[in-house]
This record gives sequence, structure tokens and C-alpha cells, in this order.
Amino acid sequence: MKRIIITGGAGFIGSHVVREFVTNYPDVQIINLDALTYAGNLENLKDIEDKENYTFVKADITDAVHIQAVFEQYQPDGVIHLAAESHVDRSITNPTAFVMTNVIGTVNMLNSAKSIWQDDFTGKRFHHVSTDEVYGTLGETGLFQEDTAYDPHSPYSASKASSDHFVRAYHDTYGLPVVITNCSNNYGPNHFPEKLIPLCIHNILNNKPLPIYGDGKFTRDWLFVVDHARAIDMVFHRGQNGQSYNVGGFNEWKNIDLVQELCKQMDEKLGREVGTAEKLITFVKDRPGHDLRYAIDATKINKELGYQPSVTFEEGLSKTIDWFLANEDWLANVTSGDYQKYYDTQYDK
Ligand code: NAD
Ligand code: DAU
Repeated sequence: MKRIIITGGAGFIGSHVVREFVTNYPDVQIINLDALTYAGNLENLKDIEDKENYTFVKADITDAVHIQAVFEQYQPDGVIHLAAESHVDRSITNPTAFVMTNVIGTVNMLNSAKSIWQDDFTGKRFHHVSTDEVYGTLGETGLFQEDTAYDPHSPYSASKASSDHFVRAYHDTYGLPVVITNCSNNYGPNHFPEKLIPLCIHNILNNKPLPIYGDGKFTRDWLFVVDHARAIDMVFHRGQNGQSYNVGGFNEWKNIDLVQELCKQMDEKLGREVGTAEKLITFVKDRPGHDLRYAIDATKINKELGYQPSVTFEEGLSKTIDWFLANEDWLANVTSGDYQKYYDTQYDK
């Protein structure tokens, strides 16, 4: 039986990737390696946790000795590496945590893969899941291509850029069979409510202000999380060694327009008077170093692998809101405890 270690599988995107692989590849053992930080939640995988081809291992990727032991025990044929500190605002308050997990943790993963594979790389693959934020910011026009120069601005994107460079260096220096995907903003079920869309859903449900940074004209390119998981599946299996693939939905929204659309759909679904949620919109001080615009050119993955998103933004947003409305317990659980402390500090309460 083949074995794949997926790191960060208890997080937002990782849980969808684990589900995609456990469901589509019953003959492959999927090992979900996760430290269960504030962002990791095994509830995200309740529906598949009893499957025979699924195993959970609690491990911290900053602990090189433990990671090496997990590799020796499970002898994986493949690695899909998602574990990371992922929130830009947290990286501004505590950059070191991002260097530890995103840079050192990635190097530990590369070292372990290299050490157990180096005699024979045949049939092996290390897939590093990265972000479009490594490219920095666009002006009003243009798209990020795979050969756009890296120009990260936040401690988060600098740590992800650094990890991408290490992954490439292990390919070029040691021949490690790697692929990298750089994806745009994801949204969907299980999204942690520190990020814009789930934070606004949570606040609308609780009649709390919707904090919009700066003038709200910052632009992001949104992709439904299940479509990101499908792209990872394609690139992991059919991408070319040593190559990067941009993943996106050709779906740009200015933050203020997106939040207004969300407000409209929430009012409808909650049976509230039109305009109720929109009254909660509050402009707050801007994020330092805030990138103006991200937009992905996903032509390469489309041409080489036939990838295209399966869900329109309208459908995806509607499905996302429905999921949060049907899972208010999940939302209540993840917003208890430390979340409140984080929220009060971040939004100056
Ligand atoms: P997330 O914060 O929801 O989940 C991160 C997961 O990693 C959690 O389960 C957490 O417990 C685990 N983790 C954190 N530190 C760890 C450590 N030291 N050891 C082991 N596990 C650890 O993140 P996400 O939004 O699902 O993002 C997953 C990956 O995708 C990240 O690498 C991120 O950079 C990348 N990405 C995210 C987006 C997005 O829009 N969210 C877009 C493009 C790329
Ligand atoms: O582009 C991919 C990246 O998308 C991923 O690599 C990151 O892991 C992921 O967190 C996301 O980063 P962003 O910073 O773009 O996502 P966030 O949801 O934090 O913010 C989206 C936009 O909304 C951004 O312009 C900042 C703004 N924003 C965010 C929050 C949390 C607000 O205006 N108010 C807020 O309260």
C-alpha cells in the first residue's frame, strides 16, 4: 500500500485535502500529521476519521527528531506539506512563530524526506503548498505568473517565500522530486474566523461590527477550498518535477464589494430586512504593509493539467454561508477560549 503524509491536515485547507485523498484513493494510506495548534481541529475530519486508510499523528514540524521518527515509522512515498502559520495579522504581531514553523518546519520536512528517499527517488514526491502572497502586490492591472519575481511584504509571505526557496534548493541541489503550488485566497467550510469571510459571517450572526481595513479597496482573488484540494490532487499526481503551478479562480473582488455581497446573502438567508448586515460595516485602521491586489494567472495548470474551478463564486459563497449556518456549534467552539483574547487585541477592544 502506498503512503502519503499530509501535514496540516486538521486545518482549513488541509482537512479538505485529506478528505479528497482518503475518499479518492482507498488503496493509499493517508497519514495526517498535525500539531493541533489553535488552527487545527480534528472536528473538521469527523466524517472520514473511521476510514481504514486514514491515520492521525500528532507531531510538531519544528521538532526535527520527532518528524524523522514519523518518517521512519511510516516510510511515506509522498508528502503534501500544508502545515503552516497562515494568518498575516498574526505574523505582524509574532513573526518568529512564522519563521519557526514555515521555514524551519519546512526544512525539517525536506531533510526527513531526503534522508529516507535519497537512495531512490523513483515514485516519490514532495508537494509544497504555498501562496500567491510570495509575489508581493500588483497595481490595478496584471496577473501573477509562475515566473513573477518573489517580492513578499509581510512576515507571513516572507516566511512562505523562504520555504519555497528551500524546496526549490532541495530539488536543484539534491534532486528531491518536488512540486510547488501557489494558490490565491481560499474560502469555504471550516475556514477559521480570523480570516475575512468567516470573521464577517460570525460577526453578522452576532450583530457585531464588520471591520474593513483601510478604504476597503484592497483586492483578492477567491477560490472555493474544494477546488484548491482538486488542484493539489492533480499537481501531486501529474505535475512536472521541479515545477511551480499557480492556482486561482479568475475571481477578483475588492474587499468592500465582497463584504457587501456577503451581507446581502446573509440577510436573505437569515430572513432579515435588506440592509441589516451592511449597517455593521465599520472602516478600521489599515493592516501595516497591506498588499493592494493579488490576482493569479492560472493558465499553466489549465493548459498542462486541464484544471479549472468547478464552483462559481456565487455557488461557493452560498454553500459556505449554508455550512456556517448549519454548523453554529463548530463556530461557537472555535471562537471560545483564546479566540476572544486574539480578537480583542487585534481589533483594539
Ligand atoms: P490553517 O491555519 O487553517 O491550518 C494550518 C494547520 O497547520 C493547522 O491544522 C495547524 O494545527 C497546523 N500546524 C501549524 N503549525 C504546525 C506545526 N508547527 N507542526 C504541525 N502542524 C502545524 O491554514 P490554511 O489556511 O488551511 O493553510 C494551509 C496551507 O495553505 C498553508 O501552508 C498556507 O500557507 C497555504 N495557503 C493558504 C491559503 C488560504 O487562503 N488560506 C491560500 C494559499 C495557500
Ligand atoms: O492569498 C493567499 C493568502 O490568503 C493565504 O496565503 C493566507 O494564508 C490567507 O490568510 C489569505 O491572506 P489574506 O491576508 O489575503 O486573507 P485575510 O482573510 O486575512 O484578508 C483578506 C483581505 O481582507 C485582506 O485585504 C485584508 C482584509 N481584511 C481582513 C481581515 C481579517 C479586512 O479588511 N478586515 C479584517 O478583519
